[in-house]
Order: sequence, then structure tokens, then C-alpha cells
Amino acid sequence: MRESIRFVLDGEVVTLDAFDPTRTVLQYLREDLQRIGSKEGCAEGDCGACTVVLAELDGGGDALRYRAINACIQFLPTLDGKELITVESLSSGEELHPVQEAMVECHGSQCGFCTPGFVMSLFALYKSRESVERVEIDTALSGNLCRCTGYRPIVEAAAKMHSLGAQVPPGQRTRLNTAFASEASDPVPHEADAIGRLKAIEPGDTVHLQAKGRDYFAPHTVTAMAQILEQHPDACILAGGTDIGLWVTKQYRDLATVVYLGNVAELKSVETTATHLEIGAAVNFTDALPALDHHYPEFEELWLRFASPPIRNAATLCGNIANGSPIGDSMPALMALDASVVLRKGTRTRELGLDAFYFDYMVNALEPGEFVERVRIPLPRPGQFVRCYKLSKRFDQDISALCGAYALELENNVVKSVRVAYGGLAATVKRATRCEQALTGKPWTEATVRAGMAELDHDFTPLTDMRASREYRSTTARNLLHRFFLDSQNNGTLTNVYAYGR
Ligand code: FAD
Ligand code: FES
Ligand code: FES
Repeated sequence: MRESIRFVLDGEVVTLDAFDPTRTVLQYLREDLQRIGSKEGCAEGDCGACTVVLAELDGGGDALRYRAINACIQFLPTLDGKELITVESLSSGEELHPVQEAMVECHGSQCGFCTPGFVMSLFALYKSRESVERVEIDTALSGNLCRCTGYRPIVEAAAKMHSLGAQVPPGQRTRLNTAFASEASDPVPHEADAIGRLKAIEPGDTVHLQAKGRDYFAPHTVTAMAQILEQHPDACILAGGTDIGLWVTKQYRDLATVVYLGNVAELKSVETTATHLEIGAAVNFTDALPALDHHYPEFEELWLRFASPPIRNAATLCGNIANGSPIGDSMPALMALDASVVLRKGTRTRELGLDAFYFDYMVNALEPGEFVERVRIPLPRPGQFVRCYKLSKRFDQDISALCGAYALELENNVVKSVRVAYGGLAATVKRATRCEQALTGKPWTEATVRAGMAELDHDFTPLTDMRASREYRSTTARNLLHRFFLDSQNNGTLTNVYAYGR
């Protein structure tokens, strides 16, 4: 048991103990270190002013990966074993980093409040690609808000940063100002040192912090995780913290005991078996996406419209499921695909269909001390036709007003099986069972679909709230089913917005 955490900042290993485990990285930077380059705008992961980058070991420990996160909702102890890079880390002496230089040359900043966050999102992109396409720039910036400059100059800066980086004289090249591509012929300076530092602080044991009346555990194995949760059944299970962070920063909730699962090696796996895609509880969306997109390219737009890259770099699929918001985006798609969750308590595991997991608004089948170990998603079946449509006020970084997902199998144009699931229409994400019954065994025609659409009014009694009115929700729920029918007549061609670019 280790009673401290270790992370790297500006090439030095920092060791911290006896601090409030629900202190955020942003509070630590601004209040403890007076590193005030990272700003606080919203304190809820929405605006990107607090964006910092984490470097972690990748490629079996031989490489580094750089990912943006929102420091305002990331709890400080989760930095254990990682390298923290802030806007202050980028430039050495008088020389600006190529990303900063590009922002200056393209006039990408006016009041400057958002600028450090934009720079850090672009820095993560700079270190992850050799060159960038427009769509990658838009995606990388979807978690950063600018009120005054406007996005055109910032996008231009992003398009220019790699060419400026290539002009840095060899004598001035550093690990951080050298773009992606640790190719043997052109190694990134001092990368091996950075890898060595991270290897030296790799978590290999359980961390236990106690301070300010709070306990924080970060187990290293799933057995240790299960044991700790049996001993502390009321503990708050922390995954990416993109929901939990807001409980602290917005609701001022006091989390007495926190068990962080992000260091549990067994929970980080993405595995394809003969029948299922299985995604562990510690896998964030960014790491889950390649496998999800590979098996279900139909859902690519849904995942790209799920929050923003900094949120997706932290948030887990299992956290989305366990949180159980009625407007959570992954559950309609997973329910339509007949996914299930594997739950673990001590040494006991049980598997539950996702459609049996939710009882009521934010109430699920998890017992005290039990946790979601992984989600199991059936692989696509030949001839199966699936779609998911998300309706929200903004294209990027917005929670759904409504989300509808559909999985259909036909035999001679008769509905052999159909699963229809909606978020945003009830207290939980739910299947539309009466609609499904109206469609099953019928010819897949406009008339059948119209009958199914009418049944949706009996399946759900939606509410009016700030996202949408009851009438809007009922109407669009029906219309999305119709859209699914029209899409199915289109030879399976994907008609999502993202497929056409923006
Ligand atoms: P955490 O915050 O760590 O945990 C969430 C809940 O699940 C907690 O109750 C926790 O105890 C529990 N939990 C987590 N893992 C487990 C486990 N393995 N076993 C048992 N319980 C567990 N959501 C959407 O659906 N769509 C969006 O577009 C979207 N946009 C967002 C944008 C912003 C700016 C923010 C801040 C959030 C957004 N969210 C969105 C919500 C959030 O990102 C997701 O719900 C996310 O998937 C939660 O995962 P997490 O790993 O961060 O969970
Ligand atoms: Fe707005 Fe962190 S302060 S995302
Ligand atoms: Fe003012 Fe972006 S420059 S908010």
C-alpha cells in the first residue's frame, strides 16, 4: 500500500501525500503552484479554458501518447503515474512553441482567456499527428469555446502549426516542440528520458490516501478493487470522473470514500471474442472507439458527437452506463444491440442484459459493493441493419434532447427481429416494446412503420424540460423511426452528417 502519488511535471517527479483526494488538478495548479496559465471558465468540462495534456506510456511502454483533458474536473490523485503538461511547459525561454507561434501569426487570440486551452488542445493534436486534416482540427477543438476571436484564425493556426514546427532549427528542438513521429531515423529529442521517468513511477500497487476526513483508494488489480469495495460498500466508484467531477465542483458534494478504477490493468482491455466485443470498465471512449467503429461504423457520428476529445479521453463507456442518465448517449445504441453488463461483487460475477439494468431514474441493479466489470456487445450479424440518431441543440459537445437507436433483421422483407431503444423519453433509457411488437413479423413497409410510430406514444410519456418540449420529443421520436425506415431503403448507405463532412 502506497500512501502517496507520483507524477511528472516539467521533467521532475512530484510526490504528493496527505491532500484532499477530491481536489482538482486545476485547483492544484492555480492555487497551490500559482501556475495560472490554465484558466477556470465553467468548472464543468464544457469550455476548455482549463485544458491540460497528460502524457502516458503507450505501445507497450516504448512510446508516449499525449491527450488533452479538462483539469477542472480531474481529481488530482488520478495523475499518479502520468506526466502533466500545462501551457507553461510548452515554451522554453523566449522561444514560443510552434502551436503558440501559429496562434500569434494567425491572430488566433483576442482577450486571451480561452487561448491557453486552445493551445493545449492543439498541442495534443500536434503531438498525435504528422499533419492534420480540417475535420481533425474541428474535432480537436470541439471542446474549446472562444467568445471573441472566432474560430477561423484558430483553425488557420492549427493548419499551420506543423509547418512551423518543421522550421525549428535542430539545435532548438525539444521533445515538446517536435511533432509526432518517433521514427528511428528522426527520433524525438529526450523522448527516451521521458519514457524512463514514467516507467520509474508506473503504479504497481494500491494507493491509499487519507486527508481532510476522506479516503481514496486506487487499486492495481481487479481482486484488490473487489476487496476494497466489499470493505467499503458505500464508496464512490471513480472512473473518468466526467460525471463525478461535477458533483464536487458544482454540487459541492462531500465524497467520503473514493475508489478509483483507472489503474486496474484487467479493466483496461478491449477484446473481441467469437461472439462479442468486450470493453473493460477502465477503457475511456477514445480507446474504445477504434473497436466500436470497426464493428459498428454506423455509430461513428454518435461517438464523435459524444462530448469532446478531452471528455472522451477521460470518460468511460461503463461510467456512462453505470451513471445511467436518461439522456446518456451510449445506452440506446447498446440496448438496441442487445448488449449486457458483467457485474462483480467480491469473487461473484453475474451478467445482466442492459435492458434489465435500470429500475428507475438513476436507480440500477448494482448492489452495494458491486461494480460494472465490463460491457459485452454482440458482434454484428449478417444482414442486420443498425442506426442511432442523436438530436441535440449543438452538433458538438452537447447532451441529447433525444437519442433513438434501432437494430433490424429481415427475412424476405418481413421483420424477423427488431430492437428499438430511446433516451430522453423516460426516466431511464428504455426499449420501445409496444413499437417492437407492432413491427415484428410484419412486412417492412411504410404502413408497418407508421403503425410502429403510433405505438411509440403508448411506450413513452415524455417530459418538457430545458432541452426540449414534450411535443418535440414525441414528434421527433416518431420521425426518427421513419428516418430509420428511409435509411434502410437506401441500400445501407450511411447518411450521417459526419460522413459528408461539415
Ligand atoms: P464517472 O464520472 O467516473 O462515474 C459516473 C458514475 O458511474 C458514478 O456514479 C460512478 O460511481 C459510476 N461508475 C463509473 N464506473 C463504474 C463501474 N465500473 N462500476 C460501477 N459504477 C461505476 N454523456 C453523454 O452520454 N453524452 C454526451 O455527449 C456527454 N457530454 C458531456 C459533456 C461534458 C462537458 C461533461 C462534463 C459530461 C458529458 N457527458 C456526456 C457525461 C459523462 O461524460 C458520461 O456519462 C461519461 O461516460 C461518464 O463516464 P466516467 O468514466 O467519467 O464516469
Ligand atoms: Fe471550463 Fe474546465 S473550466 S472546461
Ligand atoms: Fe477571448 Fe477566445 S480570445 S474568449
